[in-house]
Amino acid sequence: MRVIESIDDIKVATGSARCDGKTVGFVPTMGFLHEGHLSLMRAARAENYLVVVSLFVNPTQFGPNEDFERYPRDRNQDVELAMGAGTDLLFIPRAEDIYPPDDATRVVVRGLSEKLCGASRPGHFEGVATVVTKLFNMVKPHRAYFGLKDYQQTVVIRRMVEDLHLDVDIVTLPTVREADGLALSSRNSYLSDEERRSARCLKDSLDLAERKIHEGERQGDQIRGQIRDRIGREKLARIDYVSVSDPKTLDEVSQISGDVVISLAVYIGETRLIDNLVVKVAA
Ligand code: PAJ
Repeated sequence: MRVIESIDDIKVATGSARCDGKTVGFVPTMGFLHEGHLSLMRAARAENYLVVVSLFVNPTQFGPNEDFERYPRDRNQDVELAMGAGTDLLFIPRAEDIYPPDDATRVVVRGLSEKLCGASRPGHFEGVATVVTKLFNMVKPHRAYFGLKDYQQTVVIRRMVEDLHLDVDIVTLPTVREADGLALSSRNSYLSDEERRSARCLKDSLDLAERKIHEGERQGDQIRGQIRDRIGREKLARIDYVSVSDPKTLDEVSQISGDVVISLAVYIGETRLIDNLVVKVAA
């Protein structure tokens, strides 16, 4: 595995593979790698000739009062884990190269970016769409891999790829979870032992909602209410949002008549966690 820091070097390395007719698979990450990230790398390894992973804590997707400064970082461990998952090129760009002082361009995916997490984190998806566009232009992958853990992010990226006619296939993969159901996240490292125990209320409430829908409940508000009640029992938990929405448009659903995505953002202490579940419903 080669570690590459310069944009010119990554362009040359992926460009020569592409010219030789080899496929390039790309996994963008912010590092502090865990099994969720590694599952994307292994899928990329299985499907492509060259596997590129980027590691960049992207400042523009964090709000002014968010955790950019204290976001967990462990470069040495990330190098080891990426190598173990079969990465060929680990791209660790410098912030001043991604965002030079005269940088002025942003990518905005209107509508979708303002819902759910976008409503609580204004500018977040603009930062994501912008950095992913820049990374795609540097790596020029045939396929790029994203986790459904960040469901809205996958919807925003797919919209962007279609609207901008980007030549990349977006591959999405299931959420990797701890034994008790908690979705793996770099931010889980912020949780105290007590918070970690209450964090299971996210997945528990998603499972409860799925069960109710399978039992025949079709009122979106009933489902939202059940989730709120379950999370409300946890004294360390504070709800940011609970959503039952259309998996493509992310519009809230009042009467469930087809597949829905149930999405949650919940503060456990000071840590904001998200999770979601797509529930299949015969139309
Ligand atoms: P990051 O949070 O590091 O996640 C990188 C990729 O790993 C994303 O596609 C995310 O959905 C996926 N991922 C995270 N936790 C997962 C889990 N438990 N199971 C499966 N996949 C999981 O998402 C970002 O970084 C950034 O927004 C980025 C796309 C890199 C742009 O900066």
